[in-house]
Amino acid sequence: MTGGVERPPPRVTVVEVGPRDGLQNEPGRVPTAAKVSFVEALAGAGLRVVEATSFVSPKAVPQLADADEVMRSLRRRPDVRYPVLVPNERGLERALAAGADAVALFTAATEAFAEANVRASIAETFERFRPVAMRARTDGLWLRGYVSVAFDCPYSGRVAPESARDVALRLFDLGCDEVSLADTIGTATPGDVARLLDVALRDLPGNRLALHFHDTGGRALDNVAIGLDHGIAIYDSAAGGLGGCPFAPGAPGNLATETLLACLAGRGIETGVDRLAVEHAVAGLRDAIASAA
Ligand code: HMG
Ligand code: MG
Repeated sequence: MTGGVERPPPRVTVVEVGPRDGLQNEPGRVPTAAKVSFVEALAGAGLRVVEATSFVSPKAVPQLADADEVMRSLRRRPDVRYPVLVPNERGLERALAAGADAVALFTAATEAFAEANVRASIAETFERFRPVAMRARTDGLWLRGYVSVAFDCPYSGRVAPESARDVALRLFDLGCDEVSLADTIGTATPGDVARLLDVALRDLPGNRLALHFHDTGGRALDNVAIGLDHGIAIYDSAAGGLGGCPFAPGAPGNLATETLLACLAGRGIETGVDRLAVEHAVAGLRDAIASAA
């Protein structure tokens, strides 16, 4: 199944994850108002999906303990989706109370990473997701799923493409509208990406698959190119190249949104995003962090 993809796609959706994947790993204190302004500036730059924050345990990720306030303060645009990370039913309740209408679940392709990240087996993560997915269906929430360590795991090494594909399939079966395959520690090569997509596209809807590259190895853009050749039209990136998962050693820096936009523009692929406005958003955030220090 390829889900009717065009290779390469004429238009790409850039999913901005900086306010969540970036700020969850920020060592300095980021004032809540600066987070809100950052999300608003990114939406103003033309990004149509901005992952705004995360309703995980504040003990696990203190950097995003103000998720409720961020969501409540946000002036939302009707044409922008603001997904929030939700690990369990408790997170969903908090997200709904704060007005979220799009949520992202996250699990992993390896047991070791699931245990390190969310203190659960892969099967247990799906147990936690079941009530969230049911509520998503009844309330009409948009639902994203992440497969972490889809290529390499910092704890158990290389990941078979079939393992990542199987977890993605379970997320679609659960009712996810979109599933993102993540190179959590930024070690995937273009060959790895081609191998996973060749396997994944046999069973998964390509038009609802996203790729999420951390840029540790400096190969994120080469990996995007392989995704484009396979017709994948949704890419996650973080403005300013912020980012990383605090539970994945060696996972700094998502692919920078500005870099991704320049690459796509160079290939004549439309995104509808203003790269200079993204750079302004990053400069504004850096100023706010510097003055809070
Ligand atoms: P746990 O300790 O196993 O769960 O944590 P628990 O149910 O026993 O709860 C422990 C405490 O947390 C309790 O509080 C709960 O009430 C509270 P206490 O009784 O000790 O006072 N709690 C919560 N509080 C607020 N909101 C909640 C919530 N849930 C429980 N939603 C849990 C399990 C999943 C909650 C925890 O391990 C956790 O929050 N982990 C966060 C992991 C995380 O955020 N990782 C980074 C994001 S994923 C990522 O970056 C990868 C991605 O970018 C893709 C890629 O690159 O791979 C998406
Ligand atoms: Mg990530």
